[in-house]
Amino acid sequence: MVICMKVLLVNGSPHKNGNTSKALSIIEAALHERDIQTEWFQLSAKPVRGCIACEKCRETYRCVFEDDQANELIEKIIACDGVVIGSPVYFAGPNGALLALLDRVFYAGSCHGRLFKGKIGAAAVTLWRAGSTAALDRLYKYFSYSEMPIVSSDYWNMLHIGNDQTGEDILRRLGRNMAELLDRSIKKRGSDIWTSWIFQRSG
Ligand SMILES: Cc1cc2nc3c(=O)[nH]c(=O)nc-3n(C[C@H](O)[C@H](O)[C@H](O)COP(=O)(O)O)c2cc1C
Repeated sequence: MVICMKVLLVNGSPHKNGNTSKALSIIEAALHERDIQTEWFQLSAKPVRGCIACEKCRETYRCVFEDDQANELIEKIIACDGVVIGSPVYFAGPNGALLALLDRVFYAGSCHGRLFKGKIGAAAVTLWRAGSTAALDRLYKYFSYSEMPIVSSDYWNMLHIGNDQTGEDILRRLGRNMAELLDRSIKKRGSDIWTSWIFQRSG
């Protein structure tokens, strides 16, 4: 039986074809090597609302605001097996507009609905010089709160602007590790405890 797997690549930069897109493309190429499908989600340059803690999502598992991309992103994460969140580093953290969106997406979809449990998560950041690990740690919070296994590489998942061969190698390895984890946990389901846990993620 062939099981199609899909990873959602979230570009949290306002630049559609900038450094973050380049970083995600390297990960994408590694996923494609293993026949894993990908879909892109581009953060809009339009204003993004912050969470107003209205708690309406407690019942609906959706955000009450329909005028930006939050509910669209919830649907896209539900429909995939893994998600890679890419962000430029802004003042040693992820892009603030991306965080405003992710706060609402994960509060509605995950904290209340547990809709993302068991999906594989990864993050990558791009930067000029410093702040990558603080930015990555912030993005990992969304996954760890959501019972989403986090994939690692062999160093911090970052790509510097310009020619960064080491960064490219790190991201390639991240993509391959993600493919391996998806492969083991989904294609060979039933073979170990880890897999059976993944498939009970609605519990
Ligand atoms: C508002 C702002 C803040 C930034 N802060 C940092 C920073 O703290 N550290 C750093 O190394 N680069 C910083 N940068 C540079 C970006 O992280 C870098 O150019 C990034 O690769 C841009 O990605 P993009 O082309 O996908 O938008 C900042 C850029 C902007 C616009």
